[in-house]
Amino acid sequence: MAKSIIYLDNVKRYYLVGDYFVKALDGVSLNINEGEFTSIMGPSGSGKSTMMNLIGCLDTATSGIIKIDGESTNGMNETELAYIRNKKVGFIFQQFNLLGKQSALKNVETPLLYGGISPKLRKEMAMEALDVVGLADRMKHRPNELSGGQKQRVAIARAIVSNPSILLADEPTGALDTKTGHQIMELFETLNAQGRTVIFVTHDLSLGNRCRRQIHLRDGKILGAI
Ligand SMILES: Nc1ncnc2c1ncn2[C@@H]1O[C@H](COP(=O)(O)OP(=O)(O)O)[C@@H](O)[C@H]1O
Ligand SMILES: [Mg+2]
Repeated sequence: MAKSIIYLDNVKRYYLVGDYFVKALDGVSLNINEGEFTSIMGPSGSGKSTMMNLIGCLDTATSGIIKIDGESTNGMNETELAYIRNKKVGFIFQQFNLLGKQSALKNVETPLLYGGISPKLRKEMAMEALDVVGLADRMKHRPNELSGGQKQRVAIARAIVSNPSILLADEPTGALDTKTGHQIMELFETLNAQGRTVIFVTHDLSLGNRCRRQIHLRDGKILGAI
């Protein structure tokens, strides 16, 4: 039977700005089962990143229920949230967020630094992740010696190195040309076929339409049936 991995019930995230509230997310309900590939689309400011940050436990909701892998994150303290974040979620961002002075290999190793894993094993795991994204031959390159698409592949390797079950990609192709964007989408499709649950935020309908499941956000709400 399908297993719920992400569950949101009437989730709101309001920001107090001056003396009024910005309703970044305004009552979102959603269930995503293990192994799904979902795209999130919507104009700038519609709440896409807010939703990703809540699912990834980088932020907490103003109200509503959030469950990750069946476990409610409501009322968890920072240590507990960090645990979920590190164990279950891999993040990929538009601007790659790589360490500029470090090699691809060292960048991919960073999530493993505090897990009590030996340097030798860390290196092996990072090499394997780089192999999965097709960059085994670029391990020693620094970010400025890589193309945009290759930088994003390094960031994806970093996101999968600790083997999380959920990948949250927030406009991962936003800084890439169309062809490279589709290659990155193809990589996410492969990672999904290997069993990972993927949420892919994009402005690009030709990318979003590749996903079986598509969610459209507008003003902090989901449009239409989900
Ligand atoms: N830290 C914040 N403080 C105040 N308002 C914010 C903050 N973060 C986001 N917002 C507002 O919340 C809304 C949704 O933002 P966001 O989730 O980043 O949208 P998207 O990713 O779809 O572009 C926007 O109106 C934005 O200005
Ligand atoms: Mg955003």
